[in-house]
Amino acid sequence: MKKILIAPSLLSADFSRLADEIREVEKAGCDLLHVDVMDGHFVPNLTIGPLVVKAVRKVTKLPLDVHLMIENPVRFIAEFKKAGADWITIHIEAEKEARKTLREIRNLGAKAGISVRPGTPIQEIYPFLDDLDLVLVMSVEPGFAGQAFMPEMMGKLRLLRPHFSKLISVDGGVDPQTAPQALDAGADVLVAGSAIFGQKDRGQAVAVFREISKRIS
Ligand code: DX5
Ligand code: ZN
Repeated sequence: MKKILIAPSLLSADFSRLADEIREVEKAGCDLLHVDVMDGHFVPNLTIGPLVVKAVRKVTKLPLDVHLMIENPVRFIAEFKKAGADWITIHIEAEKEARKTLREIRNLGAKAGISVRPGTPIQEIYPFLDDLDLVLVMSVEPGFAGQAFMPEMMGKLRLLRPHFSKLISVDGGVDPQTAPQALDAGADVLVAGSAIFGQKDRGQAVAVFREISKRIS
């Protein structure tokens, strides 16, 4: 049985009590904290930067899985690493020199990830598989939490799985109803915002994902 990693997405947390929110999911036994960084250009929303990552780093030992939805991400990777990012994921659509940037992420000592929007064929990342620790498949259009899961994206996992033995993550609309589809298709990491931080009892929400993961993986 492979270990499935559960990654609550901070975007759905209550930012007025972020430290407590993070402690709750850490106590509940989640594996990573997913941090959505948006620039108002690559996606039509603006979220957080290295300053918040630095603050988050102080209150948790969980690895920080930083998802950069920003144009030309190479400009900021060193800053995010310095702020405490453990995994740094860029978008293939936002970076002209993906290979160079992925190598730079690894040189900085972080795990390197690449993400694809729903409209991008998964084959576009095949040239970079050796430079990757993580592939993050978007199952919603990036930009906002709380959107509906796109089941047709699971075809990308099925295509990729035989070529890639490292981590495959699914992000967007993952909840107890849709998680089984992601796991069946070969996901290793489940990112969930609304289905964890959007719930009253976060401990219970993480436990439900853990149960499903044990049953299906
Ligand atoms: C969307 C983000 C996701 C999002 C997930 O652009 O990358 O991480 O916050 O939220 P839910 O689980 O609510 O779809
Ligand atoms: Zn994300």
